[in-house]
Amino acid sequence: MTGLPEKLREKMVAREREGNLRTLRGPRYGVDFYSNDYLGFSGKTAADSPESGAEPTRQTPQGTPGDAPSDSGAGFTAHGSGGSRLISGNHPLYAELENTLCRAHRADAALVYNSGYDANIGLLSAVPQRTDYVFYDQSVHASIRDGLGLCPARSYSFDHNSLESLTRRVATVLPDGIPPGSEVYVVTETVFSMEGDGPDLAGITAYCRANGFRLILDEAHAVGVLGKHGEGAVAAAGLEDLVFARVVTFGKAVGRHGAAVLCDSELREYLVNFSRSLIYTTALPPRTLESILEAYAHLSGDTGIHRRERLSENIEYFRQQARALGLDQGFYTAGGPIQTYRVGDSLEAGQLAERLQEKGYLVKAIRYPTVPMGSECLRFCLHSYNSKDEILSVLSILSKELKREK
Ligand SMILES: Cc1ncc(COP(=O)(O)O)c(C=O)c1O
Repeated sequence: MTGLPEKLREKMVAREREGNLRTLRGPRYGVDFYSNDYLGFSGKTAADSPESGAEPTRQTPQGTPGDAPSDSGAGFTAHGSGGSRLISGNHPLYAELENTLCRAHRADAALVYNSGYDANIGLLSAVPQRTDYVFYDQSVHASIRDGLGLCPARSYSFDHNSLESLTRRVATVLPDGIPPGSEVYVVTETVFSMEGDGPDLAGITAYCRANGFRLILDEAHAVGVLGKHGEGAVAAAGLEDLVFARVVTFGKAVGRHGAAVLCDSELREYLVNFSRSLIYTTALPPRTLESILEAYAHLSGDTGIHRRERLSENIEYFRQQARALGLDQGFYTAGGPIQTYRVGDSLEAGQLAERLQEKGYLVKAIRYPTVPMGSECLRFCLHSYNSKDEILSVLSILSKELKREK
């Protein structure tokens, strides 16, 4: 029996009607304002590679597959790891990478997963137990929600970045404090993937400490970008001892693939025993581990420092020009590389993105169900390699298109 069942077909029709149908597209030509490759570390062109020392000029098309794999300089010829980390896949490079991560992010222990998605579901599905409580920011990434969906604890959302809302929610759910035998987990991100903003870290860590809650922070968009050496928001603020677990990912500013949970060694050992997305999957190939190590060597050194400076200048310039064009009210107040313009309508967001793309600027519309209905937006990802001219042009086009719509 083939063909989509009728009820699934109806869901697709509804998606299309609402203007929210997702499709996989081929390479796009234009200026990159949509990838998470904030520092140009992904090395899609030779000039991009941090070893070159040069500032990359992002060539089109975006997303062109790299050269055919070669062994040159790689040192590890195996294409695959051959099994789970618990069977044959735990190559010695895992230990080297995890030690590097501990030093880079000031953590006691690190456990590498195949992706950030895997790390979040593996951590959140394994840790909170039936009698526990989880409070999470309403804008957390889908991987956190999916992890919470798999765990038996009760979970409650609080308003985005609002410590006050979290406090109220806790008071309503637990008016008599934490019941004996229960734990309370608070889950949020240090830089939100869609809004680009983040919580008051000092405030939320102090609150969790005062109440005996365990704080879990996703640092996917902070790693490589925040802190002098790209150590992320938590280590940059010296708050690592107040955080129960951090998730760092390698697919964004690190320009590679994979992720890790940073925690203490006891939690690491627990995850090795109970985290299903670590246990029941084939480990990363040695070459991938080697290439993450290579990226980390550059991230904390001169190349990383220089590119973070360029990125900061670009963020500052983008915000200045958005103000000058009267667009700043529409942007979230985020100081990082993700600058998000609120549109509030799916079709309009899609059309605006389409027009920017036609003019050669790759900007992504973020639509339901990635964000709630009414929160549709345009997400501009800034990079160390964007030029001032590109930034000014993309904002000027946005401004003109918005005026045309009025
Ligand atoms: C906040 C956040 N956490 C986790 C992930 C998942 O990371 P990965 O792409 O490595 O699966 C993402 C990716 O979009 C993200 O934005």
